[in-house]
Amino acid sequence: MKKIEAIIREERLAAVKAALEESSYFGMTVSEVSGRGKQKGIPVQWRVGEYRVDLLPKIKLELVVLDEDAPLVVEAIVRTARTGETGDGKIFVLPVEGVTRVRTGDRNENAI
Ligand SMILES: Nc1ncnc2c1ncn2[C@@H]1O[C@H](COP(=O)(O)OP(=O)(O)OP(=O)(O)O)[C@@H](O)[C@H]1O
Ligand SMILES: [Mg+2]
Repeated sequence: MKKIEAIIREERLAAVKAALEESSYFGMTVSEVSGRGKQKGIPVQWRVGEYRVDLLPKIKLELVVLDEDAPLVVEAIVRTARTGETGDGKIFVLPVEGVTRVRTGDRNENAI
């Protein structure tokens, strides 16, 4: 199993969620996060001069899927989250040791 951790733009969440649902991926965790990439935020012009907002609001989407589904899920997120501008986000893929469904005690592949 793999955990897909995707940092995306807030305004792309609905489209990404719809694409994942279309492919029958329903379970996910969504959080509001703040972060920065290699541009270290964005410069902002104000009356008193320029300053930098270095942590920007983003959405973190976490999904645990079967190993063989990971590339498909990554592809669906890239397709729907991408605008082509800097700040489109990043996707991390991590190995998962185990999953347990609390209600039933189901383990691993039977629990996701
Ligand atoms: N190396 C990283 N580790 C952890 N989180 C990251 C990393 N890079 C980016 N992020 C997260 O992803 C968000 C979006 O990053 P962003 O898309 O700006 O990456 P980038 O590498 O600067 O690419 P781009 O040049 O397209 O902007 C950041 O706000 C941060 O939350
Ligand atoms: Mg960036």
